[in-house]
Amino acid sequence: MDEKKQATERRTLLETILKSALIIGVLGLAGAVLAYLFPPKRRISSATQRRMRVARVDEIPLGKGKQVLFAGEPVWVLHVKSGWIALSAVCTHQGCIVQWDEKRLTLNCPCHAGLFDANGNVLAGPPRRPLKRLRVSVIRDEIFLGSSEEEA
Ligand code: FES
Repeated sequence: MDEKKQATERRTLLETILKSALIIGVLGLAGAVLAYLFPPKRRISSATQRRMRVARVDEIPLGKGKQVLFAGEPVWVLHVKSGWIALSAVCTHQGCIVQWDEKRLTLNCPCHAGLFDANGNVLAGPPRRPLKRLRVSVIRDEIFLGSSEEEA
């Protein structure tokens, strides 16, 4: 009789452990599925990503440009007659990286011959939207990139 009672208690204990393990496994799987379906939103708003030093003004002569990485995105900082312009280097067609042409003062996309002027406006090719413009400022002979003008 005692052996039968002990066997029953062991079976009950084993069933409880298995059910607990099953519940923990199901909850873990559900958590993983929810994390996949609803990923946390990325925040790119730290102070270093909002403002970045690019160069001294004499490091980018008139007609030249410098490509930098700003908040994970390649950006062209251009020195043109009207001053300093900062444009995303990501083509608005399919995301290729545009290159600055110092002779023609245009930004050329190598993928499908997209062409933009120094203000980021579309001149030719398949892109329909201008390049994204970013805020640029000069403080004591230093060039700084700021947040997007649309976001400001
Ligand atoms: S990706 Fe630039 S023109 Fe197509």
